Amino acid sequence: MNTPIRFALAKGRLEKQCRALLTRIGYNCAALEDPGRRLLHTLPHRDPGRAPLEAVLAKAPDVITYLSRGVCGIAVAGKDTIMEQGGPFYELLDLKLGQFRFALAAPAGSDFFEGAEHRRVATKYPCVARRALAAQGIDAEIIRIEGSCELAPLLGLSDAILDIVETGDTLRENGLVILKDLMPLSARLIVNVAAYKLRRKEIDLLVEDLKGVIDNANDR
Ligand code: PRP
Repeated sequence: MNTPIRFALAKGRLEKQCRALLTRIGYNCAALEDPGRRLLHTLPHRDPGRAPLEAVLAKAPDVITYLSRGVCGIAVAGKDTIMEQGGPFYELLDLKLGQFRFALAAPAGSDFFEGAEHRRVATKYPCVARRALAAQGIDAEIIRIEGSCELAPLLGLSDAILDIVETGDTLRENGLVILKDLMPLSARLIVNVAAYKLRRKEIDLLVEDLKGVIDNANDR
């Protein structure tokens, strides 16, 4: 019998699009349509000769931990999480899913660049923020927030935020504007180093299949 390849998938913004990609390359993703509280799901391939995937639904930062520690062989993670956490893995493919970006934002009308001596930036991505702000020559205190860092300037905890922006709705609805668009981001296929050595042929085949559907989607 084919041993499943364990595949970590971040719950949330990328999950649905990733499921659609896997379906297009022949995996039966019915188990992920309505997963309930189950966190492990087997996804058989339409070709019985191909190993199924064992999908692991996890929070984005944990995806990197499971992959780096070798309990998952492959994973899909946002470039935002990859840049924040790094780790010993190969980034094999840009899946071109998710049109989001890193941006520095602040309350409309505020004077972040010319204002206070002591600038404070709230973010879920302190490592990225430290690097990005240094590259822009901006000296600021970084305040780590776990979710909805848009709240921080509204509450007076920070002068600005560094966060991912997709539709821009969260910024708009909270009176914030982009000060600097820092970089585009998208989902990546990442692979554990040892798993790639052990199952290279199967993983390369999966990558080729994915490339085919991504390229076709972009041709349309
Ligand atoms: C992200 C990000 C923003 C929001 C931006 O949070 O931190 O809050 O999405 O998206 P938008 O531009 O489409 O409004 P996410 O929804 O991933 O959840 P979290 O705050 O729980 O981390």
